[in-house]
Amino acid sequence: MIEKKAKRIEIISNGPYVVTGNVPLAKEISVRDKKGVPVEWEILERYPDQEDYDLCRCGASKNKPFCDGSHHAVDFEGRETASRAPFSQVAERYEGAEFDLLDDEELCAGAQFCHRGEGIWELVDAPNDSNARLMAAEIVGNCPTGRLVVCEKGTGKPIEPHFEKSITVLEDPGRKCSGPLWVKGGIPIQSSDGSEYEVRNRATLCRCGKSSNKPFCDGTHISIRFKDDE
Ligand code: FES
Repeated sequence: MIEKKAKRIEIISNGPYVVTGNVPLAKEISVRDKKGVPVEWEILERYPDQEDYDLCRCGASKNKPFCDGSHHAVDFEGRETASRAPFSQVAERYEGAEFDLLDDEELCAGAQFCHRGEGIWELVDAPNDSNARLMAAEIVGNCPTGRLVVCEKGTGKPIEPHFEKSITVLEDPGRKCSGPLWVKGGIPIQSSDGSEYEVRNRATLCRCGKSSNKPFCDGTHISIRFKDDE
């Protein structure tokens, strides 16, 4: 019997993300409400299943989201600079009446889901309102980066959506740009130095090549108007 490979992502030094284990890959767009605030995701396309594939990390491939070897031609410098400290150690804790909110701003990718309503931080302060907790969990669950985590009062247990292990290529039509890779469901990510990043239910990997917090997205794709088809 052929043993199935585990789902994982390996970062190649100054090269692509090597994805193994038949990880489902799709493209998603953020959908905005009348006020222009993102409220949900919509699947645009599902890519054919592949046991292994390489995803572009430098932003220069002519076959995005896949790597076509362009990182050599552009002399891509992909040094990983992100913190290795566990999220729970570096995140700020905002204590609310109904839930606590953990926030690691370093991971912000500018997805703007947290702007919904009066903003997620207003919900933290809402006194004795159980709807606030539900709304906060929905907003945070839609934030692809894992910057924000809602935790139960008392137990401190994170309230997370269930995701199958998968990757989606993000598009932000509201800002007319392409976004990062959304890694869902706790796929292990191995650094180019062989160590492993903390496994998270939600994480965004840079695919424009310009983040200052590699391998994670820091929102730079917005200011450079990164486009999938260029
Ligand atoms: S994709 Fe967001 S900074 Fe590169």
